[in-house]
Amino acid sequence: MKFKTFELERNMSVWENAVDYNLSESGVHPLTLKDVLTPEELEEISGMELYYTEANGTVLLRETVAAMYPGSTPDHVLITNGSAEANFLCTMTLLEPGDELIYMVPNYLQIGTLASSIGVEVKEIRLRPELNWQMDLDELNSLVTPKTKMIAVCTPNNPTGAIMSAESMAEVRRMADEHDLYLLSDEVYRGAELSGVESPTVYSGRKKDIVNSGLSKAYRLPGLRLGWSVTDPDTIWELWKLHDYTTISLGLVSDTVASKVLQPDRRKELLAGTHQFLNTNLAILTEWIESQDGLFSFTPPEAAAIAFPKYHLDIPSIELIEKIRDEKSVLIMPGKWFGVEQHVRIGYGTPPELLKKGLALMGETFNSMREPVPA
Ligand SMILES: Cc1ncc(COP(=O)(O)O)c(C=O)c1O
Repeated sequence: MKFKTFELERNMSVWENAVDYNLSESGVHPLTLKDVLTPEELEEISGMELYYTEANGTVLLRETVAAMYPGSTPDHVLITNGSAEANFLCTMTLLEPGDELIYMVPNYLQIGTLASSIGVEVKEIRLRPELNWQMDLDELNSLVTPKTKMIAVCTPNNPTGAIMSAESMAEVRRMADEHDLYLLSDEVYRGAELSGVESPTVYSGRKKDIVNSGLSKAYRLPGLRLGWSVTDPDTIWELWKLHDYTTISLGLVSDTVASKVLQPDRRKELLAGTHQFLNTNLAILTEWIESQDGLFSFTPPEAAAIAFPKYHLDIPSIELIEKIRDEKSVLIMPGKWFGVEQHVRIGYGTPPELLKKGLALMGETFNSMREPVPA
């Protein structure tokens, strides 16, 4: 089977370690094990025998995750290698050629591209900048047909940082219920809200609700590769069948660390640090955008370390980011790889000094491209 290239991930893999200023990351700057564990816990982990862990995740971790989603139990949870694996398992297990998927765009595009690779018809429901990156709900309803199998959303959204409104959430739930659809919500940015108030999960305990998430973004631990799916136990069993073929189980160290840092008080503390970091850095980014003399239109993000401004220059987004990368060694991502042109995604989760320097350099390229003002 031939899979379409996942342009965003492939380009990040090739370039993120090659540039001086990586503003392509969507998460907040990562933490170390020393940051999140006590000396006793570090000692405990260093002395652990590295056996295979339970393939679906340890009971303790599954209990801990289940406690975050009212109505779920450890049997509703599958621990995966990143939320990327959770998304992969759901797409490949629950969708078949000929099915239709209603898919929120702009988006990270993992699920949409994978689904279309296996012959699923992907119908885009677009987030509208004029609606503060929300959906038009009439348009959403017009996309359902007898072949629709799933609605897949991403909230908080990558790349816009928008949180799905209460009205939109009520409507997707109503539609999923009425048409008996899977409702898959990628919530890997949940917990990284700028307000400090955790946004609601789409998961309601309905049999076909699925939430995928993990520790890579709000929790600042992407190198653990720890994710999860929460859904009905029968569906978990089906997802697990494919997980037996992909990765068997998660690394024991990651499972152990996650079981500790996701305990309620520690989780709260971790997210408070994220909240503070995000607010400090968004102020830096906003100041820079405002100093660019109308070069950008911008709806500020409500969550996640990403902003998705529209730029007012006559150049396609891939060409633009390549120019910035090659001239200034600054990496940002083009709107095209999220399904929208004339935008760029700027990650502001890097340490403040690095962010300021990267923005200043990028500003030089933007300035060199402005139309000369007529005399
Ligand atoms: C919306 C979304 N889902 C999933 C992922 C994959 O994350 P993970 O590191 O948890 O596999 C990303 C990574 O950027 C993402 O933006």
